Amino acid sequence: MFPPVKITSGGSEIREFGPQDAAQVTAFLAAGDRTALPPGGPATTADVDHWLADTVHRRRLDGDGVHLAIVDTVSGDIVGSTGLRDTDWAAGSSEIGYGVRTDRRGRGHATEAAGAVARWALTAGGLRRIVLHARADNAASLRVAAKAGFHREGTLRLADWDGETAHDLAAFSMIATDL
Ligand SMILES: CC(C)(COP(=O)(O)OP(=O)(O)OC[C@H]1O[C@@H](n2cnc3c(N)ncnc32)[C@H](O)[C@@H]1OP(=O)(O)O)[C@@H](O)C(=O)NCCC(=O)NCCS
Repeated sequence: MFPPVKITSGGSEIREFGPQDAAQVTAFLAAGDRTALPPGGPATTADVDHWLADTVHRRRLDGDGVHLAIVDTVSGDIVGSTGLRDTDWAAGSSEIGYGVRTDRRGRGHATEAAGAVARWALTAGGLRRIVLHARADNAASLRVAAKAGFHREGTLRLADWDGETAHDLAAFSMIATDL
């Protein structure tokens, strides 16, 4: 199981979603904007309270990973989300992901969050290896991975199936000696 996460990095606080986020998360869903919410976030506004009080913490308590909000420390706005998943405690490995609101992109939020969460996971989180997979045609995500200090290990050919087409994935990692 991961310990509770609260990371301050650059102009952001990175922490678990919680009941204090109900108004913002409800507003995102009401506007049809899921870009700041993680995969597996609440499906409708009716699900928000239960998701914030319970579901969002399950991943951490089950040891699979963490769902984290990226919060602008000045405005208090949730600008995106990041997290870890598919943690293999025996191997000491976990996979990182991230997304940033369309209207807040290009300000370094994803780079700051990816680097900070990976550093946290390799120290306080007790892991040895953080994996990052980005579609090989996702130029912004490839740039984030490189800027955040991940090492590109290669290409997982046709490893991502979107329901219609298979895409190559770029495989990156960060290990403790990279810090
Ligand atoms: C990928 C994503 C998280 C980046 O968030 P962000 O906060 O804008 O990222 P940053 O500001 O830290 O860095 C983005 C970098 O990508 C670059 N970039 C953005 N779009 C680009 C493009 N089409 N081609 C090349 N570079 C691009 C930016 O210029 C910036 O690099 P720079 O600082 O050298 O100029 C955001 O675009 C997003 O949420 N996309 C949808 C979800 C997604 O793809 N998640 C990743 C799954 S692996």
